[in-house]
Amino acid sequence: MRIENSLIWATKELKDSCSRPRFEAELLLAYYLKKDRVYLHTHSRDKIEDFRKFKSLIKRRAEFEPYEYIVNRVSFYDIELYIDMGVLIPRPETEILIDLVTDIIKREKITSIAEIGVGSGAISILLARKFPNLKVIATDISNKAIEVASINIERFNLQDRVEVIKSNLLDEVSRDIELVVSNPPYIANGFKLEENIIRYEPKEALFGGVIGDELLKEIVLDIKRRDIRYLACEMGYDQKESMEQFFKQNEIKSYNFYQDLARFDRGFIIDFGVKFDKKDI
Ligand SMILES: C[S@@+](CC[C@H](N)C(=O)[O-])C[C@H]1O[C@@H](n2cnc3c(N)ncnc32)[C@H](O)[C@@H]1O
Repeated sequence: MRIENSLIWATKELKDSCSRPRFEAELLLAYYLKKDRVYLHTHSRDKIEDFRKFKSLIKRRAEFEPYEYIVNRVSFYDIELYIDMGVLIPRPETEILIDLVTDIIKREKITSIAEIGVGSGAISILLARKFPNLKVIATDISNKAIEVASINIERFNLQDRVEVIKSNLLDEVSRDIELVVSNPPYIANGFKLEENIIRYEPKEALFGGVIGDELLKEIVLDIKRRDIRYLACEMGYDQKESMEQFFKQNEIKSYNFYQDLARFDRGFIIDFGVKFDKKDI
């Protein structure tokens, strides 16, 4: 089949699963041919070799599989990461968390941080690239996330400064840490999500408990207990009230909530304060 006809066919196939079917049809054909989208327009009368293979990509997308899993890559911030089924596709709103943590690392000259729930490695890699002296230890409970994060860390040649370990929260981390960053699962079990998410993205990356904020609260208490000064977390748009109440109950006084670009509550930063050794007082 010719390129122009393939695109007409693919656009129709994608009309129920994508908001921009023609655009995604072009993206997938450009990916399949290893060309850019302009090529499709300048070679619209060329025939596609082995049309069946292209058809199978379109069928996957028509079944709501995310584009990123089909092409095994995702754009995040200013980089492109490898991604695969079983690992959460990093979302643009998480870039705000990175910017806020960047400000703290700069201001406090922090050199050692941890990430809980590394996923694809997006947050840890971005921060390590911004700060050449920063050491990061990142945890996850998912073997697949550890595998994908390790691939990305190697691609960016960060093995010396970003370590990934299998651990529930920070249970297996013993080194001194100045700040913890996390985008943990925070959706309530059973919350109705879009087809492309619920059918394909890993449940352990999405659901945080019956109410949704259980893991967030566990993280807050864990960091408080460990005497780590800063905690920066992403959260759900409807969790500000319950988290604020929780902070008050636990005598956490210095915190700020932040919003995403759509003005939804999206996360918080806690400053647990400086701890002095008795000999310093
Ligand atoms: C929402 S995803 C975030 C992934 C990545 N940091 C990002 O922002 O794209 C949450 C991640 O936390 C991991 N996770 C869930 N429960 C965990 C736990 N108790 N300890 C460590 N990691 C956990 C999941 O496997 C998943 O990779």
